[in-house]
Amino acid sequence: MGYDAPYAGLIMVDLHCHILPGLDDGSDSLDTSCRMAAIAARSGVRSIVATPHCNTRNELKNYRSEALTRAFRDLQAELDRWEIPVKILPGAEILVRSNFASLLEKGSLQSINDSQYLLVEFYFDEAPAFMEAQLSAAEGFGFVPVVAHPERYFCVQDNPSLAAGWFERGRVLQLNAGSILGTLGEGAYDAASLLLRWELAGAVASDAHDYRRRSPDLLPLIDALERRFPSLDPERLLRTNPQKILQNKPLR
Ligand SMILES: [Fe+2]
Repeated sequence: MGYDAPYAGLIMVDLHCHILPGLDDGSDSLDTSCRMAAIAARSGVRSIVATPHCNTRNELKNYRSEALTRAFRDLQAELDRWEIPVKILPGAEILVRSNFASLLEKGSLQSINDSQYLLVEFYFDEAPAFMEAQLSAAEGFGFVPVVAHPERYFCVQDNPSLAAGWFERGRVLQLNAGSILGTLGEGAYDAASLLLRWELAGAVASDAHDYRRRSPDLLPLIDALERRFPSLDPERLLRTNPQKILQNKPLR
């Protein structure tokens, strides 16, 4: 089977994907990682930022390290060996907890492709004041926060204008494909729909964890975007903006 980008030749960047094997609750083996990459490639993805969970409470560290850098490289070598046309770029999905500022200070956090963009997530029931303080802390260290799946946080579901405030302060809102497709619950589906309608989304990514239930196939997403949000440009969310992030350029 070939890897021609099937949606009008659209070449995409997946900014958020748990494709590194064995580092978190995502891919469980090198074989799974290769299958995920092949599925992504068939849907038109050519660059995947590998974003293992970092700083979780159950001791998934995945801080910036030689070992992490080696994991990105090892997966790339395997994909090259199988001629799967995907470039793996370094990243991490950082769970923001009370130790966040000290991690920033120590330079422990892996940004997206070593740019100023930092992919951060929060506990789903996190308090908005804590989130605001920590986003500001990241900015104080020169980072631009990319907020992973804002539509999944209860405070945003209750009060979506909170996410509008983040957007206005220059943070990037990264929505999950699953939220838009309705596989991550009704609350996330409704909030994602609203954020898209308000044109607050900076990017959409797979947040894939495997190749079945949380898959890196972005074709169903493009389909849903076209059908439900015809005035939105999928290319901006899946290629242009993510590409700017990889190149460390401003989005607006
Ligand atoms: Fe994730």
